[in-house]
Amino acid sequence: MNTTIATPNLVWHKPGLTREDRHSRNGHKGCVLWFTGLSGSGKSTLAYALEQELFARHVQSYVLDGDNVRHGLNRDLGFSAEDRKENVRRIGEVSKLFADAGMIVLAAFISPNQEDRDMVRSYFADEEFLEIYVRCSLEECERRDPKGLYRRARKGEIAGFTGISAPYDIPRSPDLVIDTEVLNVEQSVASVLEALENRSYLK
Ligand code: ADX
Repeated sequence: MNTTIATPNLVWHKPGLTREDRHSRNGHKGCVLWFTGLSGSGKSTLAYALEQELFARHVQSYVLDGDNVRHGLNRDLGFSAEDRKENVRRIGEVSKLFADAGMIVLAAFISPNQEDRDMVRSYFADEEFLEIYVRCSLEECERRDPKGLYRRARKGEIAGFTGISAPYDIPRSPDLVIDTEVLNVEQSVASVLEALENRSYLK
């Protein structure tokens, strides 16, 4: 898919409201927490549980989840390396808009390529993007197999399945690692909240 389209006749319209205006109204900054990990590692479970906790604290946040976004915006994409890159690129752009609107974005995507995750990181200022590795061994993900997809992938029914017949790059230098073989959901949520508080994302 060719995503490099020239924009010669477009002029950026400078918005009247700044992100600082939104930050001071919300009482927190906009940013992106990018959860990466194998299917079944617990990314979505953690992101949605964290969203509940942030909502209770009146923090503006929103989950962008791989399976859900692929039902709509990215329904035209499959799981080739090229389509996964485009999946991540679009979510990166959507995350940028949401963060600009003052939200804490919880993006939960396998996003198996380090290069693609670095590409998204490059869209943001340093403190606006946290790569969170939701760590769980392939063996444990296969044991959990919440959607029955690993079993089908092992039978050869799903081509290019991450961890089985398609690669996953373990994050080189994640901002945070959540080990879901060690921590339960509450502990994982607490760990991310602590990181957010330590970095002054939350009051
Ligand atoms: S990504 O690799 O492009 O980042 P994404 O997070 O959007 O993946 O979607 C992953 C979800 O799609 C998995 O949790 C699983 O439910 C489903 N899925 C279907 N086919 C595959 C596949 N070949 N590899 C991985 N996940 C797949």
